Amino acid sequence: MTKRTIVTMPGDGIGKTVLKEAIRVLDAVGFKAEYIHADIGWEFWCKEGNPLPQRTLDLLEKHKISLFGAITSKPKSEAAKELDPRLEGKGYVYYSPIVGLRQHFKLDICQRPCKTFKGNPLNFIRKGKGDTIEEPEVDVVVFRQNTEGLYGGVEWTDPPDQVYNALMTHPKFEKNFGWSPKEELAVSTRIFTKKYSERICRAAFEYAKKFCYKRVTLCEKPNVIRETSGMLLAICREMEKEYEGIWFDYTNIDAQMMWLTKNPETYGIIIAGNMFGDIVSDGFAGLVGGLGFACSANIGEEVAIFEPTHGSAPKYENLEPSIVNPIAMILSACMMLDYIGEVEKAKQIRNAITKVLEDGEVRAYDMLKLRGSQEVLQQGAASTTEMTNAIIAEL
Ligand code: NAI
Ligand code: MG
Repeated sequence: MTKRTIVTMPGDGIGKTVLKEAIRVLDAVGFKAEYIHADIGWEFWCKEGNPLPQRTLDLLEKHKISLFGAITSKPKSEAAKELDPRLEGKGYVYYSPIVGLRQHFKLDICQRPCKTFKGNPLNFIRKGKGDTIEEPEVDVVVFRQNTEGLYGGVEWTDPPDQVYNALMTHPKFEKNFGWSPKEELAVSTRIFTKKYSERICRAAFEYAKKFCYKRVTLCEKPNVIRETSGMLLAICREMEKEYEGIWFDYTNIDAQMMWLTKNPETYGIIIAGNMFGDIVSDGFAGLVGGLGFACSANIGEEVAIFEPTHGSAPKYENLEPSIVNPIAMILSACMMLDYIGEVEKAKQIRNAITKVLEDGEVRAYDMLKLRGSQEVLQQGAASTTEMTNAIIAEL
């Protein structure tokens, strides 16, 4: 087997901790790779005025595949205060490097699987008929459009004249907003392109076909947001014809958030635009263990980056030994293995995680529903390393 080259971007805080653990698991499963470190995050903002240095972009451009931990972001004013004084006044403005990465490499397809692991004490339960308690098995993969829509960054407060005048040509704008002074208007746009709308829908249907999901659901609001949600719906309706045996339907995001606790086991693949995808994937993730379990992939035409959904959890970054749950990062590494065709190894790791969870002996503090602090280790929680060791022992 040839050796793979993987760019590792630990980033900040617990990103550094969990990425190391994921690599130990990849080694243990026999995945042969060369890992090349790349700089990203707060440290590089403070030292260089750029949290996403060009050398990191070059490494990603060259090697295409990356594991990413997490970064710390702070509001612009705080960011400015922490910048190296020698760089002050030189026009450096902080931006989120992960959003930067998604835009730079057009990582337009965001996959967020939300699957129940048997034995996870954080699994969602509900009351059934009579006094029964049911633990529905959730197996959902959210396909979120990652680069457009409300997070596309095309927005203004007090829009320039050309924009304002163009908006005024729309009868609804004139009627509903024309009364407001221009300086008091804030406008954030929701722009979808056909190309990237088709790509997210295609990726979702193909995934359903490959992994035998019976249902694909578009989760948007086409009855109200007619142009953008409507475009996704039209594309799905057309595409659905090519996939025999897959049931396509659509839900509205608001109703979906209610239904997901009522009957989450009935959903399979979910397609959504950027913001609704962000919301609905957190909703489903909450049913299967939350941030300690939520993994994701950002996939573009050339580059793919795999990361846990959680951030750098600064309150835990200096705890020694660390107490955070490494599973979200390890599951993100499994997504990478799937992506590069090492499906069997990914399966082995997921099976090992299942065994550890079913066994129930080794549990990180979040699984024990403890408040995070160093004391959790005396209260029966496993440290980050112990959690990983248990998974490796099962392998
Ligand atoms: P966070 O995800 O870092 O932490 C929220 C809470 O979730 C933590 O206090 C902890 O209780 C829990 N948590 C997170 N990861 C966990 C794990 N692996 N195991 C157990 N518990 C875990 O989000 P927060 O506090 O909103 O943001 C902290 C920093 O992270 C900020 O600077 C934020 O901008 C950044 N961030 C970065 C992201 C990324 O790199 N993709 C995503 C989200 C936030
Ligand atoms: Mg989010």
